[in-house]
Amino acid sequence: MTLPEITPRPDLYDEAENWSVDELRTRQLERLQGAVLRASRIPHYQAQLEARGVHPDDIRSLDDIRLLPFTTKDDLRTNYPFGMLAVPREQCVRVHASSGTTGLPTVVGYTSGDIDTWAGLVARSLRAAGVRPGQMVHVAYGYGLFTGGLGAHYGVERLGCTAVPMSGGQTEKQIQLIRDLRPDAIMVTPSYFLTMVDHVRSLGLDPRETSLRLGVFGAEPWTEAMRAEIEQSCGMHATDIFGLSEMMGPGVAQECVETKDGLTLWEDHFYPEIIDPITEEPVPDGEEGELVLTSLTREAMPVLRYRTRDLTRLLPGTARPSMRRMAKITGRSDDLMIVRGVNVFPTQIEELVLQIDGLAPHFQCILTRPSRLDELTINVETAPGVPAERHEALARELSAQIKSRIGTSARVVVLAEGGIERSVGKARRIVDQRPLG
Ligand code: DLL
Repeated sequence: MTLPEITPRPDLYDEAENWSVDELRTRQLERLQGAVLRASRIPHYQAQLEARGVHPDDIRSLDDIRLLPFTTKDDLRTNYPFGMLAVPREQCVRVHASSGTTGLPTVVGYTSGDIDTWAGLVARSLRAAGVRPGQMVHVAYGYGLFTGGLGAHYGVERLGCTAVPMSGGQTEKQIQLIRDLRPDAIMVTPSYFLTMVDHVRSLGLDPRETSLRLGVFGAEPWTEAMRAEIEQSCGMHATDIFGLSEMMGPGVAQECVETKDGLTLWEDHFYPEIIDPITEEPVPDGEEGELVLTSLTREAMPVLRYRTRDLTRLLPGTARPSMRRMAKITGRSDDLMIVRGVNVFPTQIEELVLQIDGLAPHFQCILTRPSRLDELTINVETAPGVPAERHEALARELSAQIKSRIGTSARVVVLAEGGIERSVGKARRIVDQRPLG
């Protein structure tokens, strides 16, 4: 099935999408200076800047960003819930929170100006994804404290589209609404979208028959192999949207549908750096490392040099020439599994699983330590209709691929359809059963 043709609409771009590099850098510097000034009202940053002997006036060029302290999730937790606000709490019209797997959540506040900027950036992202005013967008990111649902929603409305605020879960109802209302686009995590596709098939329908022609997928890592699978099996364009609650939510970066070559970072609002996560030194554009982001325009909660833990590379601009792109995220530094000295990310497993006919991209990586060494087991599901007699051969095939392509041994357990727990939001790819300590 050929994918629908989409003509870019530069006439609809925000002004910043047309800025020259010089203009962008000038604005970034002005905005960075403003952000540092706002941050210096927060006791946490005040102390950090003082300890470094740095004054907001010392930021005279973009390179001076290196004078500023990093911010980590722990800093946000230590100042839980409202210690990182640069404005009185009364000026926040909304909060979101990110749960994290351990400890306190991090709370993020937004002024009405912040919500306005955010809606504008999600609208810009949707436009880059190929969505056009007047279309209908089904939002299946969770609504609530998670930034996905409400963040997407305001952007859909801002672009002049019809939002279907379905949220996550209730798969049957999702499919019924999609069949009845016939939306053009969907915003959802790629893993939950696969669950929805399975459900469509279980009704005896071909997913290509739905009205959906554009998918804006994010909130978790996914691979080029997954893009190919979704585009072929559903006849839709699949683009990647990135964001994090600490910076704002979805809409920090978005892939342009005409190039599908990584995500354009909306640099007029977020200044990116890539650092070596161990030495904390910046690495040149093009080299992989940890993404560090500084919010340039946030009012309620300016965040300086936030260590995202996300691993990627910065690439030159293409569809929006003056703004840099980030390569699809390969994983988070905390998702890295080191199995007998070999580094393994769940995205590498996803790529291999998708190459084997008979396996479905529903899998989990189980880490155990039966003796002194870590062991990796991959539990993976078969595609619908694969007989139990083939399970063993499929397991052998995946295990051999992991050995030859990644270089480590993994036990593979092939399960029948439905054997892997489904999430309605972000998939849980790693189950760590190793003893603590
Ligand atoms: O996941 C915001 C979001 C919602 C983005 C909907 C896109 C769509 P958090 O819950 O704070 O916010 O999680 C942020 O999720 O640091 C990445 O590790 C991961 N992540 C988000 N988008 C992507 C993506 C939202 N496109 C964390 N690719 C980030 C890979 C992603 N990982």
